[in-house]
Amino acid sequence: MGSVEELRPIFSPKSIAVIGASRSPMKIGYEILQNILVQGYTGKIYPINPEVPEIMGLKVQPSVLAVKDDIDLAIIAVPAEAVPKVMMECAKKKVKGVIVISSGFAETGEKGRLLEEEILQIARKGNMRLIGPNTLGYKDPIDNLDAAFVFGMPRPGEIALISQSGALCIGMVYYANGEYIGLSRVISIGNKADVDDADLIDYLDQDPATKVIAMYIEGIKDGKKFLDAARRCQKPIVVIKAGRTPAGSAAASTHTGSLSGSDIVYDSAFRQVHIQRAYDVIELFDFARALAYQPPALGGRVGIISNGGGAGIMTADWCESVGLKVPNLTKKTIDALRPHLPSITSARNPLDVTGDARFHRYHATGSIMLSDPNIDSLIMVCVHAGIARPREFVGAVIKLVGDKRNLKKPIVACWVGGPEIDEVVQELRVKNIPVYSSASRAAKAVKCLYEEGHRLELIGKKKQARENHS
Ligand code: COA
Repeated sequence: MGSVEELRPIFSPKSIAVIGASRSPMKIGYEILQNILVQGYTGKIYPINPEVPEIMGLKVQPSVLAVKDDIDLAIIAVPAEAVPKVMMECAKKKVKGVIVISSGFAETGEKGRLLEEEILQIARKGNMRLIGPNTLGYKDPIDNLDAAFVFGMPRPGEIALISQSGALCIGMVYYANGEYIGLSRVISIGNKADVDDADLIDYLDQDPATKVIAMYIEGIKDGKKFLDAARRCQKPIVVIKAGRTPAGSAAASTHTGSLSGSDIVYDSAFRQVHIQRAYDVIELFDFARALAYQPPALGGRVGIISNGGGAGIMTADWCESVGLKVPNLTKKTIDALRPHLPSITSARNPLDVTGDARFHRYHATGSIMLSDPNIDSLIMVCVHAGIARPREFVGAVIKLVGDKRNLKKPIVACWVGGPEIDEVVQELRVKNIPVYSSASRAAKAVKCLYEEGHRLELIGKKKQARENHS
């Protein structure tokens, strides 16, 4: 059985046992059971605790061995030293997969490492896949299953999130919610004793709900397995690889027991398999949203429209400094733009549509620019100057994205101003149109779409070569 089939009982379980389900609302085992119930899980739930007959109205069994039906998934939240015993019971019961929430394993030193090895061997002998230990669990907003111990669900969407850090994982979910970024599956992967990033890449590549895979990684144990999975993956992958510096690397070894390794090696390996690297949470989601909701750029030539000259220049600088081009426009485009511009401005790229631009000027110039054969993508910028009309800017961007879908050229928006304009551009976020609060963020997102275009071109060429060969 491949890892995709092996992981299905964990991520689409027909029945779940919560081992260490607690009667105390302050404990993690209580919270996990509560979260499963809150989201309205429709499969069978078996709380397991030898000390108590009933929790939240559910009958409690003393052990999984007392459960008559089959169990797909066991979520384990008992102290680390009690985990081997309950896992042996799971193996005896032929549970298909386990998530070990408990900490106290490889991240704590040699004794914990041996304990982790012991539970891995129990999982292997029992034919159970194991997520964790030292994990938060997972949250699935598509199938409404909250198998994690912190309250709160992501908005449903098309970006899968895998995180080696549990706390950061939840922080990222809340951040994404605030930005109206929807997620498909959120998986806290913990110490990766068994199921690792490569298994999850394979699994999510086959997941119809997922378009983009976003990851937070501290260390990878089996580099070859990881690179093979990334190379096979048809979907774009964006990664934060933390522990880049000596200080970060030392912290990672006590956090999840990871060896961070040489950052130069990671960097070149990621490049080889076209993984895009993000350097913080904001960048991870900037890239993931652009990849999920805009077409890839088929070339690196960017058109820029702004209502403020300075913002246009800064955006041009950022585009060129990340390796994009801000090309001259064709004569046909220049002639078409002129009637829409005030006499004080010239028809060029970056284009300054001036502070008094209204909906029609933004929309008409954007439309003309996108039709230029020298332009592969468009950045629309709005500066909240005194006479600016950000609402009309937002309307123009929405209409352009809708009308020009067939051109397959990405459009991203960018703004400069305060809370008032941030509130207005929220409409773009709600509609999943990438919108960024700085020129550097917008330029890097377009670069990411250009890299994705390049990746797809190479995949296409390889496929073509294989077909020609056969
Ligand atoms: N089978 C089933 N239930 C058992 C059990 C067993 N063999 N042994 C104990 N239990 C029950 C306990 O009776 C208790 O229930 P109660 O509160 O109703 O009495 C419950 O399981 C929990 O056991 P307890 O000993 O109280 O542990 P705890 O809740 O204080 O801590 C962990 C357990 C797993 C939460 C804790 O050890 C831990 O690892 N915390 C950190 C988790 C974490 O941060 N993970 C990583 C996130 S990124």
